[in-house]
Amino acid sequence: MAQRLSGKTAIVTGAASGIGRAIALLFAEEGAKVCVADILTDPKEGGTPTEEEIAARGGTAMRVECDISSWADIDAMVGRVVAEWGRLDILVNNAAHWTTTPLTETAPEQWREVMAVNADGYFMCSKRAVEQMLTQSVEAEARGRIVNITSQHGMIGAPNDIAYGTGKAASVYLTRQIATDYGRRHIICNAVAPGRIVTGKPGVSMDPKGLEAARARTPYPRLGEPMDVAYAALFLASDECRFISGVNLMCDGGWSAS
Ligand SMILES: NC(=O)c1ccc[n+]([C@@H]2O[C@H](COP(=O)([O-])OP(=O)(O)OC[C@H]3O[C@@H](n4cnc5c(N)ncnc54)[C@H](O)[C@@H]3O)[C@@H](O)[C@H]2O)c1
Repeated sequence: MAQRLSGKTAIVTGAASGIGRAIALLFAEEGAKVCVADILTDPKEGGTPTEEEIAARGGTAMRVECDISSWADIDAMVGRVVAEWGRLDILVNNAAHWTTTPLTETAPEQWREVMAVNADGYFMCSKRAVEQMLTQSVEAEARGRIVNITSQHGMIGAPNDIAYGTGKAASVYLTRQIATDYGRRHIICNAVAPGRIVTGKPGVSMDPKGLEAARARTPYPRLGEPMDVAYAALFLASDECRFISGVNLMCDGGWSAS
């Protein structure tokens, strides 16, 4: 079967770990040159750094140290991708910062720290990517495609996640706004909203009680895996995604449907 991203270039933020890593590995397997953008090198869940794994599997990757709360880092990263690979076809906004507290226990500094990544970071990466994409020719109906990794949180009220959930809601809105403002100029922008995805990252996300509660609440007979989100992102990043823009695709095993 033909590779679905053959000849494309992609930036995946937060690609060192978890869902971003799965997306980067899948995109590379499907023929894309992938920029692995992160503040970390080693996956939180353990294993070989993503860019090394891609190279070991015969793909093409570059690692860029990029903090998505920094415009200077983002600007330099997009500049480097275009200088080395000629064009930016796909941006996956995935890197996010998670804290969990209710409104009254959230310090203004904590709020700002989360927003700096989950809202400002998605905004700045999208802005810089679209500026670049608008200079490019239309290929397979698009100058470029953006996929935002959002969350169930931000769609529904989740206990205590005031800053994280609000930042995620911002990324859903950003998706619609970019689709609205730049659709006529062949920018396609969509999102994937994961439910509970087990990445293997140690800590609270592996708490057995929490996992069991999520499993019991999910109609699909298992919890999510990073590859579930990666396959959804692959479709939205591929040439097969036509006449679909501004959508926030739930990838939650039917949780939000039930
Ligand atoms: N895992 C889940 O259950 C779940 C559910 C819903 C949504 N999501 C979303 O999926 C995405 C990935 O989540 P994950 O579980 O794989 O997270 P993770 O913590 O395993 O990985 C996140 C990666 O982003 C990087 N990162 C964090 N801040 C950064 C910054 N400022 N600049 C660059 N890189 C940064 C981290 O270093 C890390 O490698 C996030 O947007 C998250 O909100 C995850």
